Amino acid sequence: MSGLVVDAVSVEYVRRGASITALDEVSLTVAEGEIVALVGESGSGKSTLARAVAGLVETAAGTILFDGVAIPTRGRKPVAMVFQDPLGSLDPRLTVAAAITEILRVHRLRPRAGERARTAELLELVGLPPEVAGVRPRYLSGGQQQRVAIARALASEPRILLLDEALSALDASVRAQMLRLIMELRSRLGIGALFIGHDLALVRQLADRVAVLQLGRLVEVSSAEEFFLSPQHPYSRELLAAVPVLRRT
Ligand SMILES: Nc1ncnc2c1ncn2[C@@H]1O[C@H](COP(=O)(O)OP(=O)(O)O)[C@@H](O)[C@H]1O
Ligand SMILES: [Mg+2]
Repeated sequence: MSGLVVDAVSVEYVRRGASITALDEVSLTVAEGEIVALVGESGSGKSTLARAVAGLVETAAGTILFDGVAIPTRGRKPVAMVFQDPLGSLDPRLTVAAAITEILRVHRLRPRAGERARTAELLELVGLPPEVAGVRPRYLSGGQQQRVAIARALASEPRILLLDEALSALDASVRAQMLRLIMELRSRLGIGALFIGHDLALVRQLADRVAVLQLGRLVEVSSAEEFFLSPQHPYSRELLAAVPVLRRT
């Protein structure tokens, strides 16, 4: 199958000598151009799944393929992560242009002469004005910082974005703008996304499918329509019941 295929992946962490199963034989796909939301309580393993896909944690079992090929642990990957805290993932000493250029150079994606134009193109893609290139991230708003983090993720030309609570720290109005950005990136680039978040109203607007994790197990994968209209698993119904605005469905 093309796109991202996670097949029976388990991840175990060892803490104080004891091993805990953070993911237990999780299988999930994300096609190019598809947005799959991953929901579940804190500690259910959402970040672990994204990190396993990005090759940041070792898997104890299972396979993770993109277009039928294992995702390399080093070098350029077909997936790119965006985290909740943009400042934490950006070097405070680097201007926005330098942060993006770093990625272009590491992966040899553009000759030096093409770096400026590519940086401008990436900023335009994420809806930032070209002047932002010369600024250090801390002088930008939270929403702008997250746009920079997304531009930096896009610099490596991934086919799937892994958005780990990437919108969770933003105000509702900024979050709505970012939601439009993600939809726009999908239509312009044909990029897919694994979207982790707990704002189910946002998930409803954004996702094609919803995957529900409970204590490391995937208990439901449904189309968004199905998930919000007739969730299959009791735990899904619990999650939905906790969100008053969605209760009418
Ligand atoms: N680096 C780690 N070392 C040990 N345990 C971890 C580590 N990261 C996460 N865990 C544990 O794995 C489980 C899943 O965590 P996580 O993937 O962060 O969940 P979520 O993102 O859904 O909140 C939790 O029980 C968490 O405490
Ligand atoms: Mg998490």
